[in-house]
Amino acid sequence: MIEFLSLLAWLIIFVIIVVITYRVHHKINAYKADDNEVKVEALQIFQNWLYTLIVIVSICGIGILYLFLKGTIWEGHLFEWLNLTVRWMHITFGIVWIGASFYFVFLENALNRTKDIRDELAGNLWAVHGGGFYYLEKYKLAPNKIPKDLHWFKYEAYFTWLSGFCLLAIVYYFNAKYYLIDPEVLDLNVLSAISISIISLIIGWVLYDQMCKKLIKNKLVFTIAMTVYLIFFAWFYTQVFSGRAAYIHFGALLGTLMAANVFFIIIPGQKRMVNAAKKGLAPNPEDGKAAFIRSYSNNYFTLPVLFVMISNHFPSTFGNTYQWIVLIAITIGSAGIKHYLNVREKGQISIWVMPISVLLLLSVAFVTAPAKANYEDCKEIVSFEEINTIINNRCTTCHSANPTDDIWKVAPNGVKYDTAEQIFNLKDKIFQRVVVSKNMPFNNNQTKMTQEERDMINCWINQGAQK
Ligand code: HEC
Repeated sequence: MIEFLSLLAWLIIFVIIVVITYRVHHKINAYKADDNEVKVEALQIFQNWLYTLIVIVSICGIGILYLFLKGTIWEGHLFEWLNLTVRWMHITFGIVWIGASFYFVFLENALNRTKDIRDELAGNLWAVHGGGFYYLEKYKLAPNKIPKDLHWFKYEAYFTWLSGFCLLAIVYYFNAKYYLIDPEVLDLNVLSAISISIISLIIGWVLYDQMCKKLIKNKLVFTIAMTVYLIFFAWFYTQVFSGRAAYIHFGALLGTLMAANVFFIIIPGQKRMVNAAKKGLAPNPEDGKAAFIRSYSNNYFTLPVLFVMISNHFPSTFGNTYQWIVLIAITIGSAGIKHYLNVREKGQISIWVMPISVLLLLSVAFVTAPAKANYEDCKEIVSFEEINTIINNRCTTCHSANPTDDIWKVAPNGVKYDTAEQIFNLKDKIFQRVVVSKNMPFNNNQTKMTQEERDMINCWINQGAQK
């Protein structure tokens, strides 16, 4: 009964808000036509709150749906679709944001700053794209008169962060026992694991912000401090969470720094500059400088964050014994590649940045390669029958056309081991997950595979995988 009442209340509230949103939209257009700037601005702020409200009410709607589905066979399905939808939104917003970030960093780097530049300009740039020619100018500080239609770039950052945080909650907080916590790393309870996750993001931002404010004057000191900071967090997360969650949290931390740079520094600074210019005052150049430094440092975070987002598919990285060193090496290597691109866009040549970055990344691939088993350790030839039995005992509860597991009702990633053929064909993947990264059986070795069984699979592969 309570479910139906809340559903009804929710529907009514949702429809009312949507109707108000349309009305406000019409009003704004009407005021725009009258050139009533003050009213337009006030209504636009109200409109932003309405949009925020729609998001909050939608989340409540999902909560109500959860009340209906809790404990039924559709609960898992609801989470799968939540995961799918939010992930989809997250990558879409992320692409828009990073795309804009790359584009503006490119503009900054490629600006013509010397030939035929008017006094008030920092530079200009010609471009051709999509069959049209574009001509852009960058002002040294701000134009004398701020144009009426000024485009801002902020929502892509905010929405990327918000959807990212929701995804973190859907995948890692709601399934903390399976994804976030690894008792072999640290036997946390769910509440403390989630608290560590949230608090670490907040502390991470405060620390970084202070570093930017206090150390930015000396580039070398700042770079060293930033490197120590990154190494600390990469190490810290791997000491408290499962490998996969540790990586994601490192990415979430960088993403948080990027979004918070936009929210707390870049946008407020730009607002102050616009307001000053509107009053006919000279904008404070410090605001422009601070915003520039933050957005430029964001551009070095982009490639490492993107790596983390795909790292879940690569257990040889997060499943490695020294996974935090792997993470740091890939972070530095990929930031190095971004640096190379920046230098190149400026028309300069850097001889060492690219080769060193690539070498660093290649060395990660080399170091994480599986060690060959000592043939002596494998006393006897392991037969395929033995392997077949091991896989049937330890894996097919989940990896089957008809899984018997409580949670996994469909074969994870479509991987099934029902027949000898399937096992044989997937032997490389089995080796990767069982011997190299050891993160199968899933859920902290749910089916209690022994080290001896892992060794047998190792020997079988090393002996040439007899069938
Ligand atoms: C409790 C359920 C469960 C058990 C038991 C289990 N797995 Fe998995 N497996 C999963 C889940 C969930 C995923 C997807 C998440 C991931 O990739 O880590 C997965 C993914 C995999 C993948 C990656 C497939 C791909 O395409 O990338 C391989 C390989 C794999 N498992 C092998 C095994 C082997 C071998 C065993 C037995 C030793 C095993 N699993 C036992 C749940 C299980």
